[in-house]
Amino acid sequence: MAKITKLDDIVSLCKRRGFIFQSSEIYGGLASCYDYGPLGVELKNNVKKAWWKSIVQMRDDVVGLDCSILMHPMVWKSSGHADKFADLIAECKKCNTRTRVDHLQDKPQKDSIPPSPDEVTELTRELASSPAAQHTEHVSIDAAMAKAHDLSGKLCPNCGADGKFTEPMPFKLMFETQMGANVDDSKTMHLRPETAQGIFANFRNVLDTTRVKLPFGITQIGKSFRNEVTTKAFIFRTREFEQAELEFFCEPGTDEHWYEHWKDARFNWYTELGLKKENLRFRDHDPDELAHYAKACVDVEYRFPLGSGDWQELEGIANRTDFDLRQHQRGIRTLNKWFENNRDLTGIELSDEAEDYLSGPLSYFDDEKKQRYIPYVIEPSAGIDRSALAFLVDAYDEEEVRGETRNLLRFVPALAPVKVAIFPLVKKEGMPEVAKNIYNDLKKYFNCFYDEKGAIGRRYRRQDEAGTPFCLTVDGQTLEDTTVTVRDRDSMDQVRVSTDQLLNHLREKLDL
Ligand code: GAP
Repeated sequence: MAKITKLDDIVSLCKRRGFIFQSSEIYGGLASCYDYGPLGVELKNNVKKAWWKSIVQMRDDVVGLDCSILMHPMVWKSSGHADKFADLIAECKKCNTRTRVDHLQDKPQKDSIPPSPDEVTELTRELASSPAAQHTEHVSIDAAMAKAHDLSGKLCPNCGADGKFTEPMPFKLMFETQMGANVDDSKTMHLRPETAQGIFANFRNVLDTTRVKLPFGITQIGKSFRNEVTTKAFIFRTREFEQAELEFFCEPGTDEHWYEHWKDARFNWYTELGLKKENLRFRDHDPDELAHYAKACVDVEYRFPLGSGDWQELEGIANRTDFDLRQHQRGIRTLNKWFENNRDLTGIELSDEAEDYLSGPLSYFDDEKKQRYIPYVIEPSAGIDRSALAFLVDAYDEEEVRGETRNLLRFVPALAPVKVAIFPLVKKEGMPEVAKNIYNDLKKYFNCFYDEKGAIGRRYRRQDEAGTPFCLTVDGQTLEDTTVTVRDRDSMDQVRVSTDQLLNHLREKLDL
């Protein structure tokens, strides 16, 4: 039976085998930033390829895009991010640590005697890994500010101080940077906090330059940045991360149908890529949890091994209605005010919507109905890093083989960083030459790895740990009858396959 994985097992495997490293490790590391090593970058690229294949390649109604990370400041005014993209935080008066209000934990009831320093350390460690500290994504700042917050009886997750907090205040999540070398005309810009807005800003360009007709989608994969207050759990929540987003435009009134369509499609994507059904579920957002732009939203949640093994968001699927396109139409009408205000957003209000907004610049003309309207949008929005973590967790297994522990990653072939490893049994008798020839032939078709160092058993174990589905070994018999052994990672069964049949055999097994 598959072992229940702990996050520590994954972190240590990732470091040991070069999947993921702490950023800037030689300088002591940079918190919440990670680098993908040789195996990790292959895994991450495979996750992205799998998204692109299912969303663009296999469909006729979605096209791709790759937008710049820096965008016009008005984009963030129109989208609402400039004013609303914030978390509610409170600062501990004792240690000055700022914490999200929704991440503060109640003091345990029994705790009437002040805890000892050791108890504080243990308590704060527990609180930091508790489901509440890990679970919630950003809350609506308006809804959060509207609530009264009694922070007496809440504990600081850093020092354990009890109820000593400032009044809750909003903390803006977008990273700022300067653009331009001259102080006078340099502008404050923001690193994008989601890739979606680049798609809305290009809606007209795509309509005008392609033959797309509603319903259709535009997708992109790229980096997003959020100055998260709480970053925890390895690559689960970081300040720089990669998103895969799809904005699927449809006629108002058909949005609920497409919402259900994309819920099914996205759930199936994860299971087809190997996530066990019992570790996945949907969670509908409560009305007070909905983002300012959404009519409905559901999270695809995965049972990540964080804290108590709680369910966490893997992807959000939202019905964004016509909010974004309408907001950008207002933004276009506000542009002059921005110029007049010395290219500064401070104090600028978005212009009202034009009376004929349904036929505005971001409207769509429906040829069949001879009607103009602003399309509705269904948005599946996935985290590439978070998906990679889920695939690692789900694939991880340990089993006893002849008194030894075998660690392995049971990746589906499409996700495996290396598809086939090729070994000569020994480094003599012409075996390395034959094995190298096979390697050179096969690497034109799949990502392959050649290894001639160490005992064959250890070479198999190293590939098991990297998640390589098949290992080929050239041995004495190969030199007699041109067959090699093909070993299956999961069953460890070996079959002999003739070298002239190898490519077909592997293609069929790998199903790529
Ligand atoms: N455009 C909608 C949007 O950005 P979101 O729920 O904030 O929605 C979508 O983000 C997905 O992006 C999340 O489900 C998660 O997988 C990923 N994500 C968001 N913030 C992240 C972070 N700080 N670190 C890693 N992944 C993150």
